[in-house]
Amino acid sequence: MRAWTWRRTSDARGAAPAAIAAAVNAALRHPAAKPAAFVLASLPLLHLIWGAWADTLGANPAQALSRGTGDWTLRLLCATLAVTPLREAFGWHALLRLRRMLGLWTFAYALAHLLCYAWLDMGFDAAAIVRDIPKRPFVLVGTLAFVLLLPLAGTSFDRAVRALGGRRWRALHRSVYAIALLAVLHFLWARSAKNDLAEVAVYAAIVALLLGWRLRAALRRQLPAR
Ligand code: HEM
Repeated sequence: MRAWTWRRTSDARGAAPAAIAAAVNAALRHPAAKPAAFVLASLPLLHLIWGAWADTLGANPAQALSRGTGDWTLRLLCATLAVTPLREAFGWHALLRLRRMLGLWTFAYALAHLLCYAWLDMGFDAAAIVRDIPKRPFVLVGTLAFVLLLPLAGTSFDRAVRALGGRRWRALHRSVYAIALLAVLHFLWARSAKNDLAEVAVYAAIVALLLGWRLRAALRRQLPAR
């Protein structure tokens, strides 16, 4: 709505955001934009793998891998959630081209994070993992977030969208907000034992802002126009 206003107003205040939106959309529609985004999203994972191989991850490489993959899962989740607010607020509509890829990268990092836990913490001992998950509430919450990510990753392809139908697909994919809340709770729980909550507060604020934006949009749709 706002972007429409910006595009239509001819005064100087509206011209700058419209010009920025046009430049951002043109860059995002460039054929190189998707491959560039793919490479960018892969870099933290490659950096962690390289660090493990070259032994540059510090005194506790297993912890660095576990934390690094966890951090990037949360960052990419926030980036995926930010697509709609950024489109609506600034008119950066071409961001939609990257949303599916961002969502799938979120899943890939979550899978790598889970593998770090299963391999480096638990030595792929299935019985020990099954015993450990309910014993540590923060791991249980992380597992729940991961389980909720599975159907989203599995239905992110065109055929699944067609099979489900737009309405059901959108309803299913709304669970991404529950996943974001669980992810912040998981992070809070993991860090609370170490009394180190500054970073958690930043992510909690970002998720609250993104959720607040969607809630406001949903309420506006529900309320009759005055
Ligand atoms: C969407 C799913 C998930 C997200 C977004 C996520 C995110 C995070 C984040 C941000 C951290 C803190 C990293 C730091 O201290 O900088 C973390 C830590 C951790 N997560 Fe997850 N996580 C998820 C799922 C899981 C799952 C499924 C498991 C295991 C079953 C798990 C196990 C752990 C463990 C053990 C730590 C502590 C690492 C350490 O401090 O050594 N997480 N996670």
